[in-house]
Amino acid sequence: MLLRQVGAGAAAGVGLPRTSLLLSAIEPSPGEHAEGPVRLHLNENAWSASPKATSAIRDGGATAANRYPGAQEESLRSRLADLHAVSPGQVVLGCGSSEILRMAATAFSGSGRKVIVALPTFESISDAARRAGTEVVSVPLRSDHAHDLDEMLARTGADTGLVYVCNPNNPTGSLTRRRDLERFLQRLPTTAYVLMDEAYHHYVSGSSEYGSFLDHPVDNPRLVVVRSFSTIHGLAGLRIGYAVASADTARLLAACRVPDSVSGVAAMAAIAALDDTVHVRTSASRNADDRQEFCNQANARMLRTIDSHANFVMLNTGRPAVSIIDHFATNRVLVAGPFHGYEKYIRVSLGTPAEMREFWRVWGLLPLVHGMTM
Ligand SMILES: Cc1ncc(COP(=O)(O)O)c(C=O)c1O
Repeated sequence: MLLRQVGAGAAAGVGLPRTSLLLSAIEPSPGEHAEGPVRLHLNENAWSASPKATSAIRDGGATAANRYPGAQEESLRSRLADLHAVSPGQVVLGCGSSEILRMAATAFSGSGRKVIVALPTFESISDAARRAGTEVVSVPLRSDHAHDLDEMLARTGADTGLVYVCNPNNPTGSLTRRRDLERFLQRLPTTAYVLMDEAYHHYVSGSSEYGSFLDHPVDNPRLVVVRSFSTIHGLAGLRIGYAVASADTARLLAACRVPDSVSGVAAMAAIAALDDTVHVRTSASRNADDRQEFCNQANARMLRTIDSHANFVMLNTGRPAVSIIDHFATNRVLVAGPFHGYEKYIRVSLGTPAEMREFWRVWGLLPLVHGMTM
């Protein structure tokens, strides 16, 4: 049974000073994680949902319940269109960005067409494409963990329906440089669509190499940029995400959508979350601190991490990840992996300080490996 209170007496972690303002606004509520395993496997916002979003659910949720969600969906599309300076027709909503990835696989792949992806990357689009009878071409990441765009281009041909780029990439947390991506887009055959997944966009800080294709658009009618409300906004449980594309491409995507797949409550919460700039700022700042603290703890144990620009970190455990993941699961801490080419790594989502103390306590229960300090 994975039901247990997280050890209140877990070893004390050494925290960096918390620099962000208004952190109390996103302190986890008392009693959180009173039951169940520590969830460090799904890259959720461990701290909280946007408080404005939860107020919107409380205040307006009941009134939206007996109607189909058309009105709220339209309001959200307009809000997103304003935010990204596009027309509402260029915005497609999904039941999580997962639904958008499936729409893209349905719209742009199929028998006789290929989908090009990195390896490892977020698997959802490859899974959907394979189910649609599409050949998935997986191109290993470069040694610096960026997408190998030259090789992806070399593998792209007239039969390529879709190229998937996840930036920052899940599971590595690594970036692919904006200028390389721009050059790549210019050189792609005009038959290939590109899905740029920016699910972790808000966690990137201070990298001149990174540039969002929503914040700094390029003129490419086949580019689809996707964001999720599950990450920084903390709305994973409500299932909502969106895509922005040219009007024609958006129409092709939307044709593959389940009608009314986004609930009115989720749409209302998403609008409020977009307005909650304090929550976005504090969550990003908090995450940067937590990421640094995780790396400090790893360094103190002579463990290596991959430089992360997201709300999770890949940790080189120095031994087969499968056994480490089992060890953590047995101790009621869930972590992710293993991943192709990264067989000794686990992906650890950044949790609350109590959760991370539990993570390191459980790490300390592992038998010693030569040269590594627990
Ligand atoms: C890169 C990436 N894209 C999309 C998703 C799907 O997120 P959601 O459907 O919750 O919006 C995830 C979830 O982990 C992800 O990591």
